[in-house]
Amino acid sequence: MWTDGRLCYGGDYNPEQWPAQVWAEDVALMRQARVNLVTVGVFAWSRLEPAPGRYTFDWLDQVLDLLHGGGIRVALATPTASPPPWFSAAHPDALPVTADGVRLHHGSRDTYCAAAPAYRAAARRIAGALADRYAHHPALAGWRVHNEYGTTCHCEHTATAFRRWLVARHGDLDSLNDAWVTSFWSQHYTDWAQISTPRATQYLANPGHLLDFRRFWSDTLRSAYAEQRDLLRAANPRLPVTTNFVLGDWVPVDHARWAAEVDLVAVDHYPSAVDIGAEEQTALVGDLARGWARHAATRGRDPAAAAGRGDAPAPAWLLMESAPNQIHTAGRMHTKEPGRMLRHSLAHVARGSHGAMFFQWRAPTGGAERFHSALVPHAGPDSRVFREAVELGAALHRLAEVRGTVEASVALAVDAASGWALRHPGLPSRRLDHHEEAAAAHRGLWHAGYGCDVVVPGDPLDGYRLLVLPALYLTDDTTAGWIHDYVHGGGHLLATYLSGVADEHARVRLGGYPGALRDVLGVRAEEFHPLADEEQVTLADGGTGRIWAETLRPAGAQVVTAYAGGLLDGRPAVTRHRYGAGTAWYLSTRPDEHTYRRLLADAARAAGVRPVCVGAPDGVEAVRRRAGQHSWLFLLNHTDRAQRVAARGVELLTAATVDQVVALPPGGVAVLREHTG
Ligand code: GAL
Repeated sequence: MWTDGRLCYGGDYNPEQWPAQVWAEDVALMRQARVNLVTVGVFAWSRLEPAPGRYTFDWLDQVLDLLHGGGIRVALATPTASPPPWFSAAHPDALPVTADGVRLHHGSRDTYCAAAPAYRAAARRIAGALADRYAHHPALAGWRVHNEYGTTCHCEHTATAFRRWLVARHGDLDSLNDAWVTSFWSQHYTDWAQISTPRATQYLANPGHLLDFRRFWSDTLRSAYAEQRDLLRAANPRLPVTTNFVLGDWVPVDHARWAAEVDLVAVDHYPSAVDIGAEEQTALVGDLARGWARHAATRGRDPAAAAGRGDAPAPAWLLMESAPNQIHTAGRMHTKEPGRMLRHSLAHVARGSHGAMFFQWRAPTGGAERFHSALVPHAGPDSRVFREAVELGAALHRLAEVRGTVEASVALAVDAASGWALRHPGLPSRRLDHHEEAAAAHRGLWHAGYGCDVVVPGDPLDGYRLLVLPALYLTDDTTAGWIHDYVHGGGHLLATYLSGVADEHARVRLGGYPGALRDVLGVRAEEFHPLADEEQVTLADGGTGRIWAETLRPAGAQVVTAYAGGLLDGRPAVTRHRYGAGTAWYLSTRPDEHTYRRLLADAARAAGVRPVCVGAPDGVEAVRRRAGQHSWLFLLNHTDRAQRVAARGVELLTAATVDQVVALPPGGVAVLREHTG
């Protein structure tokens, strides 16, 4: 599709930052590196429309023709993430306002409010002008709308739109008052006009208000995207449209809900760790992105693909941005060691990415991100990074045949709203975090070598032997039914503390924790005991627990391990419950990494889950993709030692036949077309 069956390779290309002489060199270097897709124009609004309604497309015409001449396809961006200065000067009411009521000024990017009518109109105009001019340009592979929807606003336009959204969601004020429990602290609303966005308040804000605002804002950004998409599609229905998802706790976007709106799930990923944590995060992000793509397919777009049936292509996603070299973390930039760019890229391809794309093609001389890494760094093409970029292009070229679904028999449920709700003030601990809990479970599964799909509550669970619920705090009745049916029907479940505790409005379920899951888990907790930052509880099996502990009583469940010492001495910490034809494990604390891995392995073994590659050493990641009778095994050596893994097939990067054992150099990668039968 975007690159005619080849894996996509390239990145953000900003020709507007360079004189025209550089463009020809860019195309030559792109060809040398086998770059086949670039995003153009993502921050070029002021160059494309220097004054309201006056367009200067000649430079973009030249760039697109040059790229087309070089055989490089283009994801043409709409530049709406960075309105020009003239726009902000003419429409100060469209500048964003913080929760403190401070109006932000022009001078960076994202200086707009997505609910401001003037901004929406200007965004539609520039997107429409680009569509009119380029929708049939032969260089175009598709459209990339905007950049990383994610900024928030608290202006009056937003407040008005919020009230409209609330009316649509709750119908009448009685329902809203009930959902938000406004009887607390005299917050009962008698007129919609009394409701604003959750701005800075004297003390703790209402959790229902905060949660609905997040949902509303995700929907608002989605409609801003959708109106651009619709007019781009109208100009040429054959061109796919997407936008690049940005990840992070601050992002007010429910990507699972958005996934059905894009023709390709595209994600940007910049790990926040530099050690093995970067590889762990890469694996999780790949599984998340694939999960969103499958979720969209499941919800009607392509059910056959969702189930991985027949020859239907697996739902696609694409790593749209990543850093070729240095990443910024803990206050400074860290070098990506030689070989790591390739390994990270192939880790994404292993998990179903349709290629590897980067921010950015060429490092600029100025601007806020002048020291951000690039495929062509400041040093120019005579550099380690560019040489590695050429190697990566060759590697992706050799992997063009790889396709199919990713082998996984564990499902990990991730829910944006639970993540938001556990960020609210007034919770028993500020260390509660749905996404961190999901990451901890994923790390345990990853180190044990189990393939894992991320699912959204409600997704089909056929074929999964184990379902993991990481602090799935918001559990509405439908989700509770989904969990119940899975376990009752023979599935294995592992749920961690705080799962099932609240309903969809973040109202606590009564009768004891874990609320909606008491029956399935066969336990009842009367009290919780959040732990201090450095505090640990000891477990009877020698492990430890952090963050949380509970006064738990079995109500049908067996005790797997108990707390040892202290207030909870002898009380259950981890339990297992036979329920219907299935089994449900409950973790009332966060076990240390070692203990967590052991518990996950015990639960997985009992469920009949097998590692993707039995015998692969710790630190060697194994991922298998399958399409019909064919399979491909990715082996990624994240250690600094040579490793050997038993496997058979043809290694695609070297074309060597492997009879028994693959030898992986330190940091090395192998991709085998496996022998079947
Ligand atoms: C991304 C963004 C890019 C660039 C990059 C720097 O989130 O989309 O435009 O800013 O971060 O890492």
